[in-house]
Amino acid sequence: MSKGAPKHDAAAADVLAIFGISGDLAKKMTFRALYRLEAAGKLECPIVGVAIDDWDDERLRRHARESIAGSVGDPDEDVFSRLAARLSYVQGDYTDADTFKRVGVALGGAEHPVFYLEIPPFLFSTVVGGLGQAGLTENAHVVIEKPFGHDLESARALNAELCVVLEEEQILRIDHYLGKEPVMDITYLRFVNSILEPVWNREHVSHVQMTIAEDFGVDDRGRFYDAVGAMRDVIQNHALQVLGLVAMEPPTGNHHDSIRDKKLELFKAMRAADPKRYVRGQYEGFLDVKDVAPGSTTETFAAVELEIDNWRWSGVPFFIRAGKCMPSKSSEVTAVFRRPPQLGIGHGKTPEPNKMTFRIEPVPGSRMRMYAKKAGEEAFEPADLEVLFEKVPGEDPEPYERLLGDAIAGRHPLFTRQDAVEETWRVVQPLLDEPGPVLPYAPDTWGPKEANDLTRGIAQWSEPWLP
Ligand code: BG6
Repeated sequence: MSKGAPKHDAAAADVLAIFGISGDLAKKMTFRALYRLEAAGKLECPIVGVAIDDWDDERLRRHARESIAGSVGDPDEDVFSRLAARLSYVQGDYTDADTFKRVGVALGGAEHPVFYLEIPPFLFSTVVGGLGQAGLTENAHVVIEKPFGHDLESARALNAELCVVLEEEQILRIDHYLGKEPVMDITYLRFVNSILEPVWNREHVSHVQMTIAEDFGVDDRGRFYDAVGAMRDVIQNHALQVLGLVAMEPPTGNHHDSIRDKKLELFKAMRAADPKRYVRGQYEGFLDVKDVAPGSTTETFAAVELEIDNWRWSGVPFFIRAGKCMPSKSSEVTAVFRRPPQLGIGHGKTPEPNKMTFRIEPVPGSRMRMYAKKAGEEAFEPADLEVLFEKVPGEDPEPYERLLGDAIAGRHPLFTRQDAVEETWRVVQPLLDEPGPVLPYAPDTWGPKEANDLTRGIAQWSEPWLP
């Protein structure tokens, strides 16, 4: 452990081994993250790539260069040569014990390896089992990509398989949303300011809305997405984790894992979702996407109302919608406050409610929608208080950079724990058991019109706040 590191951090990694180094995620995200970590001076250990492809060290370095050129642009040669010098390659079949012996040799006596598994989920326990058999897991940490299971039962089963070899503290489950700076900003904004906390409850908030919208379709991910759908792809994990931060109780200062504990408490207070308060949609054209099964009923849009049974939130609806082929790429969460009464000013209109929005995408920031007098008229109009989070454009750590950097440095609070994973699956499980029909929607719209019925009588879905 480096000098001065807080005592709850684990030892820093002395090697990073990446299973699935030749795959798509590595090409699009991992090499970019490693390059940025190298440029920031945050990489100190060797990196061993493992995959089935018949490559050698040089081929891996060429692939790294191509991937970085494709995702970052032309690399700085000094940075790239430092990164390339760390890379070595082990070819092998994950079902063959010999592969893990060779991985063991490549680790070169490292005592605190981090294994990053960016491989299809059905191989997670095979690889962890192989590492265990080869005696490589004693002081190791294993980073696991999402999805962690496809429902509550499979998440428990997967965890049980991993725990034959690993302790909970050794398993680092990635939810890349938690590595986003604006998601971390939510906790800061809520709790390093004292003005929000007194109004952040059922007395003042009428409802909460969250949107995760993308203005593109499933593209080349038909095989993955058709088996998953919007509920499993982004709501069970990204959306609920963000809601956890928006709605949890304040973390306590004397416990390093307090944020994960407070989120867990919140998830436990969430009622299991009601299938009658769930709308699924599929964009027209999804069935033509390569590798999508004929007649597939997978949802590319989902909207749901959730409830939290605790002192702070009882009776406040939480609406979430997420979808592909929407009119904009936007990810935000808004607390809508109660309306003021009609006061006979502003032409006697009832004022609109104030809204506090945390915007994750496209430009991170937060906005308090206020109203003020329209100059020269007896009317009111929006007068927003806006804070943009981006301080040095392009320099904030990106999610994978932050999370891989944390895994290597031995910092674990941004990884999801099994208890929270199980609670979030519990919340959405009734929707998986009883999904209801999938309704068509035209691309470039906000999903099927039935999604508006969900909020009727309480609110309308807010137009995303765009720059
Ligand atoms: C991923 C989903 O976890 O998150 C994708 O699998 C989705 O379908 C993505 O597009 C959204 O995250 P981001 O960071 O790209 O907005």
